[in-house]
Amino acid sequence: MTQTSSNQQRDILVTSALPYANGPIHLGHLLEYIQTDIWVRYQNMRGHNCYYVCADDAHGTAIMLRAEREGISSERLIDRIRTEHQEDFAGFHIRFDNYYTTHSTENRQFSEYIYRQLQENGHIATRKITQAFDPEKQMFLADRFIKGTCPKCKTEDQYGDNCEACGATYTPGELIDPRSAVSGATPIEKESEHYFFKLPEFADFLAKWTRSGTLQPQVANKLAEWLDAGLQEWDISRDAPYFGFEIPDAPGKYFYVWLDAPIGYLASFKNFCDREGVDFEHFWKADSTAEVYHFIGKDIINFHALFWPSMLHSAGFRTPSAVWSHGFVTVNGKKMSKSRGTFIMARTYLDHLNPEYLRYYFAAKLTGSVDDMDLNLEDFAARVNSDLVGKVVNIASRSAGFITKRFDGKLGKVTEHDKIREFVDAGRDIADYYESREFGRGMRRIMELADIANQYVNDEQPWVIAKQEGQEENLQAICTNAINMFHLLMTYLAPVLPETAKASEAFLNAKLDWNNRADRLEDHAINKFKPLMNRVDMAQIDKMLDASKEEMPAATGDQSAANKDAGSDTKDLEPLADEIDFDQFSKVDLRVARIVKAERVEGADKLLQLTLDIGHGERNVFAGIKSAYEPEDLTGRLTVMVANLKPRKMKFGVSEGMVLAAGPGGKDIHILSPDSGATPGMRVM
Ligand code: MSP
Ligand code: ZN
Repeated sequence: MTQTSSNQQRDILVTSALPYANGPIHLGHLLEYIQTDIWVRYQNMRGHNCYYVCADDAHGTAIMLRAEREGISSERLIDRIRTEHQEDFAGFHIRFDNYYTTHSTENRQFSEYIYRQLQENGHIATRKITQAFDPEKQMFLADRFIKGTCPKCKTEDQYGDNCEACGATYTPGELIDPRSAVSGATPIEKESEHYFFKLPEFADFLAKWTRSGTLQPQVANKLAEWLDAGLQEWDISRDAPYFGFEIPDAPGKYFYVWLDAPIGYLASFKNFCDREGVDFEHFWKADSTAEVYHFIGKDIINFHALFWPSMLHSAGFRTPSAVWSHGFVTVNGKKMSKSRGTFIMARTYLDHLNPEYLRYYFAAKLTGSVDDMDLNLEDFAARVNSDLVGKVVNIASRSAGFITKRFDGKLGKVTEHDKIREFVDAGRDIADYYESREFGRGMRRIMELADIANQYVNDEQPWVIAKQEGQEENLQAICTNAINMFHLLMTYLAPVLPETAKASEAFLNAKLDWNNRADRLEDHAINKFKPLMNRVDMAQIDKMLDASKEEMPAATGDQSAANKDAGSDTKDLEPLADEIDFDQFSKVDLRVARIVKAERVEGADKLLQLTLDIGHGERNVFAGIKSAYEPEDLTGRLTVMVANLKPRKMKFGVSEGMVLAAGPGGKDIHILSPDSGATPGMRVM
């Protein structure tokens, strides 16, 4: 698989998974796009022809319902989200050759074409199935859109496929008192015809394909289990109303979003090829000699390693050279959480921190395996400060000044031939690490070299030599050696730190050219050194976490299995309550309140005791939000309270009002905050 030994130019197409167009990019996503971008930049640096395409995954029920709620068309919604996604990616220096959408002409054409091929080859079946149907909204309901009481533990308000309280899994039919999460109506059973992809017919093909070096060993083993257990036909149709592509000759039937999503890889690349005059066929014909790699997360392996290769195979396209899965990001050892502020959006990060810090940290911890990765924020700050600022940048800053001041900006001759050769030779191992996605090992090797360079400067003490008579040539040589070491280090780091690489090229007045890295910088003029990177300050990180708590959009669920089908933004869709008139509403006195104090309550496992300033004095309120908030994080915040609720005697004292919060419970509770500018006591209308 590893092809580093050959110097031949390779044609490579690379993709990352297409992010859903129903929510913002967060740091979990970014692991994948940063991993892919580093790999692609490395390949391009080696002179290969490596293209990187992606797109927004724009179809499905969740997007349709969200657009409806916002009162805009689905098309408008996906355009807006695509712009936001592209800005986020650009902010992290992710350099796509094309960033498209699955709602495109090319994708419609490919989807229809592949479907017709599957049909001609006898791989499509149709049959009637019975499904839950919302009689009010006139639509079929996926399991995630049905809520009711758990048949096992009787907890109310559980989703149609599993219970969050007891973990039971069941079918929506087994729920007690089921309701549509869209309208609140009681679902009925309804029959309709569905289209199926006959996956079992690909069992032999898949048994071979998954064992042919296309997957990581761990993943191939997992798939072998699935294959042994037997494959099921795959339901590829959804009934109207649906935002997607209508199935040819099947009015009212649409391709399920996961059918046209991977085809979106072809469509985005085709769009690029047509614009840039690149040969699409060369990459995708059945016997192509080009390479195709998909980078994905471990949660979507079945789509990429079962359905996708089978579809391509049947339709006469080549199959991917490999599908590479990564694990999931946790923050400070735990699943990303809104209440802890660790569900960090790309934009929030960019408002506070340099994107290259994260690129480096991820690189330093990435392996070629599917293991999860923890983003520990203290370790993050320490690692970036010690490695990048303390080791790498330091080498240049310690030697550049002398060259500028004493030698008119000109380097002399390299004298440390053995050391420089070691630096050049290390490039072979580092190349292998990049190629095999063992970025962490690569970064460690680079930092070993940085240690050698720093040790060299420490030993030679140019700042002492600079004060001695007759040591001019020696001083220039020491600095020239150090700058050459820095040049090599930055060459190896360039795929990870594209901006610092650019600034280094400007400073060195030379390219960072991997293949010609043995060329030395001698008798060469460099430019004045400017600081290349600042230290990370824990205060910036704290600010980012605070901002994350505030900026959390309501529509963003923890991206997990929930999102794979229905979209987690429907989680909070409670049925609407009965109508009231304005008089009834105006009796409720809502006020802006400042949380002066928040304390745990001895013996209460759900409650926090809040002292609220509402302008007219202070109120004591017990709020059932302990599962979602640390009291310390609430102090000083503004929120909204019902100020004229009759005081209620509770087990732990009298509660004088209620704080407004949204969400089903547990960690998923979010107190409301007014926009900036509001002050305690203001009436909320
Ligand atoms: N739309 C599908 C992919 C279709 S590909 C033809 C999808 N979208 S997603 O937005 O939910 O996820 C996009 C990618 O980000 C996936 O590869 C997913 O695994 C990855 N990640 C989302 N959250 C993640 C973490 N917390 N950690 C690491 N990667 C995660 O799935
Ligand atoms: Zn239960």
